[in-house]
Amino acid sequence: MAKDKRDKGVYYITTPIYYPSANLHVGHTYCTVMADAMARFKRMTGYDVMFLAGVDEHGQKIQKIAQEKGITPQQHVDEIVLSIKELWKTMEISYDDFIRTTEERHKKRVQAIFKKMYEKGDIYKGEYEGLYCTPCESFWTETQVADGKCPDCGGPLDLAKEPAYFFRLSKYQDRIIELLKNNRGFLKPDSRRNEMLRFVEQGLEDLCISRSSFDWGIPVPIDGSQVIYVWLDALSNYITALGYPDNTSKYEKYWPADVHLVGKEIVRFHSVIWPAMLMSIDEPLPLQVLGHGWLLLEGGKMSKSKGNVVDPVKLIERYGVDALKYFLLREYSFGQDGLYTNEVMLTRINSDLANDLGNLVSRTVSMIEMYNGGEIPPAGIEEGPDADLKKTAVAAAGKVEAHMDRFAFNCALDEIWAVIRRTNKYIDETAPWLLEKDEAKRGRLLAALHNLAESLRIISILICPFMHNTADKIRDQLGVGGEAAAWEDSKVFEKIGSAGPVRVKKGKVIFPRINISKELSRLEEISSGGAAAGEETGKEYPEQKPEIEYDDFAKLDLRVGEIEKAEKHRGADKLLIFQVKMGNETRQVISGVADNFKPEDCVGKKVVVVANLKPRMLRGQESKGMLLFADDGEGFAFVTADASHGEIVS
Ligand code: MSP
Repeated sequence: MAKDKRDKGVYYITTPIYYPSANLHVGHTYCTVMADAMARFKRMTGYDVMFLAGVDEHGQKIQKIAQEKGITPQQHVDEIVLSIKELWKTMEISYDDFIRTTEERHKKRVQAIFKKMYEKGDIYKGEYEGLYCTPCESFWTETQVADGKCPDCGGPLDLAKEPAYFFRLSKYQDRIIELLKNNRGFLKPDSRRNEMLRFVEQGLEDLCISRSSFDWGIPVPIDGSQVIYVWLDALSNYITALGYPDNTSKYEKYWPADVHLVGKEIVRFHSVIWPAMLMSIDEPLPLQVLGHGWLLLEGGKMSKSKGNVVDPVKLIERYGVDALKYFLLREYSFGQDGLYTNEVMLTRINSDLANDLGNLVSRTVSMIEMYNGGEIPPAGIEEGPDADLKKTAVAAAGKVEAHMDRFAFNCALDEIWAVIRRTNKYIDETAPWLLEKDEAKRGRLLAALHNLAESLRIISILICPFMHNTADKIRDQLGVGGEAAAWEDSKVFEKIGSAGPVRVKKGKVIFPRINISKELSRLEEISSGGAAAGEETGKEYPEQKPEIEYDDFAKLDLRVGEIEKAEKHRGADKLLIFQVKMGNETRQVISGVADNFKPEDCVGKKVVVVANLKPRMLRGQESKGMLLFADDGEGFAFVTADASHGEIVS
């Protein structure tokens, strides 16, 4: 018998085992990404984690699809399972085991579980006559069905009439009611618990647990003419993967599961049928079942059977794994449904990843390179906003832990972004580019650079469970890529450089800004089958303008200036007003880039100015000259100037 192991440092988390009926869509990745983030978080915070994923390969639905394709069910599942495993590999899902229900280890154990239930007197033979939903693999009685449609998916129901074995589910009704009533943590969110309680209180009927009208399943051990009902087969995976009942070392260690993460539509199977099965074989119940909400598209739930799905592979190809993971975890609230649109996703990536995080990394590393030769300075005297920055940074880990306890991934990320935003604000408050101009302020400049690097080091640890590739990239740029990111190190400030000098090294932009309107049309084209596979992602240069003569170009007087101030034009949404310092003169230049850049991100940039452009009044403000921007295939980018002047050695 397994033990209560809540305080023993092990953590067992599972996802549903998905049907390999077709390739998975973003809705499935949502659940698996949450489980992965939790597993990584638990590992980082000191737990011995068992994270189980897998596929549910039997049943009438799979048999039907294979028949339609003219191949065997085994051929069909082998093909799809390959693509599912490939997807998880691309997404770096850190599962510890992947169970296929067609594996021998699973089949023999399911038969053993069936036998135990039979020997307990909980299984009897009868005849099933009722309704069946093949996509949901669900039995329904006339009373449960209002309009002839499946109460879960709304699809058509088939009549099933066949000899079958039944599980005495009704026998466990009172214990299930007690479980749902008294163990308030067992099923979350509370709305699901109330819904299930109402369902069970209406009375549980015995459950048909075998089928004889098709054969794609695990044979009933006591009757070769029947296969075991796919849900009994599938639910057992959570313990067969641990070796139950014949090889119990993992089972002893990890069972009961800390959490079964499942979509809300299968909460009924996990909080009623699964506990009753475990009661029947006298094994402990999982500690918690968590029912998450659905990703909806306009028009309803994203689902394979409806065909209205978003392909995660396409999104990953274009924006990367971390951007997709971040978006899924940050945008939606656990337990609630959320609407998926490309625009919401792209806006989220631009604002949080390209602007907030990406800019922080590149500004911090650039300034340390420019102002201190690339070496992170030691800690300095605390002044001004330093205390608030430190307090915000070191307090974040504890807040993240509290949110993760509730599976509130969005709130956990919000806490981390509060540190990112605080650090960006710190750059504006300390304005290192101004400190650099005054030798007397060198000490302050170095202290500020240290604090920026330190805050970024903390951020690189905090984001690890959610986007570990980005964490690695940041840590490489910061020069701490060699050390493992340890969670506890995010709770101390002034650690960077304590064991010897650390040098930053500028790398690629971690999240390139996306031109949203262009990208939306690309995605439209792709979903209507327009894009060539393997095309280069995200980049598309506009058509080249007609050739010009050298003399045309020679008329331009190009000068380098530094943006000292940037603000929105009060009278025009699209315009930014820049104050650009060029030698002894500061010029006001206005550009139509308010949709592309945040004013605060422009300050400090060394830009190229067309100095001799005829001045113009733009909505009541004079613009003297023009800043140069160029299209880098992903949208507007500042044409910036390298401050070095190149030496010619003769
Ligand atoms: N095979 C069963 C599960 C057996 S578990 C012992 C099954 N498979 S499924 O392929 O239909 O996957 C269902 C799960 O996929 C949902 O519970 C949910 O976790 C996830 N999702 C499927 N569509 C989804 C959305 N549109 N949105 C969010 N999650 C979605 O049921």
